[in-house]
Amino acid sequence: MCASASAKPKTGILMLNMGGPATVDEVNLFLTRLFRDKDLIPLGPLQKYLGPLIAKRRTPEIQKKYAEIGGGSPIKEWTETQGKAMVQMLDKISPISAPHKFYIGFRYVDPLVEDSIVEMENDGIEHAIAFTQYPQYSCSTTGSNLNAVYRHYLSMCRKPDDDPFSVSQKLKWSVIDRWPTHPKLVRGFADSIRECLMQFPENKRDEVVILFSAHSLPISVAFRGDTYPAEVAATVWDTMKELDFSNHYRLVWQSKVGPQTWLGPQTDEAIEGLAKLGKKNIMLVPIAFVNDHIETLHELDIEYIDELGEKLQVDIKRAQTLNDRPIFLEALADIVKEHVDNGYKHSKQFTVRCPNCVNPTCAAMRKFFIPTY
Ligand code: FES
Repeated sequence: MCASASAKPKTGILMLNMGGPATVDEVNLFLTRLFRDKDLIPLGPLQKYLGPLIAKRRTPEIQKKYAEIGGGSPIKEWTETQGKAMVQMLDKISPISAPHKFYIGFRYVDPLVEDSIVEMENDGIEHAIAFTQYPQYSCSTTGSNLNAVYRHYLSMCRKPDDDPFSVSQKLKWSVIDRWPTHPKLVRGFADSIRECLMQFPENKRDEVVILFSAHSLPISVAFRGDTYPAEVAATVWDTMKELDFSNHYRLVWQSKVGPQTWLGPQTDEAIEGLAKLGKKNIMLVPIAFVNDHIETLHELDIEYIDELGEKLQVDIKRAQTLNDRPIFLEALADIVKEHVDNGYKHSKQFTVRCPNCVNPTCAAMRKFFIPTY
């Protein structure tokens, strides 16, 4: 990882994400870890065995997709670019917490959350900030990453009176758990949409329907009270407000897998439905991931824009993912600075679990991050 200065870093920022396989060969390991994660996909008591079996079955199909986007996920490269820019800006705008250093905490590929925590301790970090790279909180994504931090310390408890909080004392933790409506995040999305609109013929721009496409969730997760659907909708609303509600728009959901009912409408069904209504100019906007990844580069670009667009004779274009957009890099630095300046430990929303939560780790993890929980 990168330190913004050669001096010993004071503030360590752990950038949390699920990560993606950097090579086609890493796909099976990535999927095995993903399907063994009961915070993401609960498969019951046999998960330890079922997860690897499902991963093995799905590996060839997913490997083919990664091969088609150039042989691997770009999430690590983008996170490194973002982290470097973020700590450079922070050293300038937040001398009180400098020097800053970023670390990557992936859930299913290297660098894993657990390994980066060890690196942070070895570096002598004073204040560790767990900074989710998902703007909208879901127990399946950010929650799973934070559970991994908690479980890392749980695994280090050796003596009967050890608890995860006491063994973590080398690092003082706080959490940036959500930022769905940060003004610079919203401006980043709005700028990207404006640029994409310019690629449509001038006489068609008013007709373009903007489809904000977010990774879907099983309805059962939404019914537990997961905050993700509402927070994604908040990002969509603020983005459209920034655009003066210039176009028709919808929030749609992509990447459903398995037989369960998931949040809808699915992105491809929405494109087909709009085509039947005579809407032949559509813009896709990835609204819940800030980096390019398989779901933008393959699902949106190849499956929906190239294949479905061609089949339906619809002009579909995609707004660029935020990646290294300067206003977005500023957002990352501003979010950390605001967190430090205000002495935040976490959001208020983080202190209440889903009303229908059935995962005991969600409570134990909160006890770790919130001493008064
Ligand atoms: Fe949301 Fe446990 S599932 S807090």
